[in-house]
Amino acid sequence: MKMKELLLFLSCVLCVNADALHSDIAISGCSDSYGEMMFGLDGEELAYADFNKQKLIYPQPPFIDPMTYVEGTYDRAVGKQQICKYNLQGSRKGMKDFPLERDAPSAVMIYTRDEVEFGEKNTLICHVTGFYPASVNVSWTKNGQKVTEGSSINIPYPNKDGTFKQTSRLDFTPQLGDIYRCAVEHLALTQPLTKIYEVDSSAHSDPGVGPSVFCGVGLTLGLVGVAVGTFFLIKGNECS
Ligand SMILES: *[C@@H]1O[C@H](CO)[C@@H](O)[C@H](O)[C@H]1NC(C)=O
Repeated sequence: MKMKELLLFLSCVLCVNADALHSDIAISGCSDSYGEMMFGLDGEELAYADFNKQKLIYPQPPFIDPMTYVEGTYDRAVGKQQICKYNLQGSRKGMKDFPLERDAPSAVMIYTRDEVEFGEKNTLICHVTGFYPASVNVSWTKNGQKVTEGSSINIPYPNKDGTFKQTSRLDFTPQLGDIYRCAVEHLALTQPLTKIYEVDSSAHSDPGVGPSVFCGVGLTLGLVGVAVGTFFLIKGNECS
């Protein structure tokens, strides 16, 4: 009996451990319009090759003991891109112009990083997922005017189903009535997908009087209950 329980406990410990395993990823890929080399861990980018800046970028915030990749990693990424493009041409010839698979983004979400307080710096996030091939372009407008300052986008990260996700950010300071829009362009879309974020008065999250009234009524009812209960308890004792 005891043995069984011990085994059960141990197998629980084992499955907890199995959940805690990390998964790292290294991808190198290319298409006609895009190329990427990225190292990731548990869904986060550790490093990627920036072919415009011609170096390896470490997008994580600085750590005391940062992890870096060996010298020459960027050059290897460039080499892999050349091989990838070459192989792509070869496959295309060999397979007689195989059709390009296209999946438009399955979801675009817009939200803020922090709870909105008027006049306090915050970040708007436009998260795009479920598209193939990589990548998407994301542009921002504020009250109909294009904004580029304070915006950034990470590189495509693969989903489990082979599609990609990508996140664009825009630094902003919420002012009542401002309307922000993120527009997503992708190969499989004939026109951009857009999502709107409006800074309205509900943003300033004020719970109102509801919870206090609810609490007050609840507490009063409880106290009345205790009083009535005590009354009958004493009455009952007096009678007997
Ligand atoms: C993204 O923008 C670049 C540069 O303007 C353009 O060449 C490319 O076609 C755009 N991609 C999509 C999917 O619209």
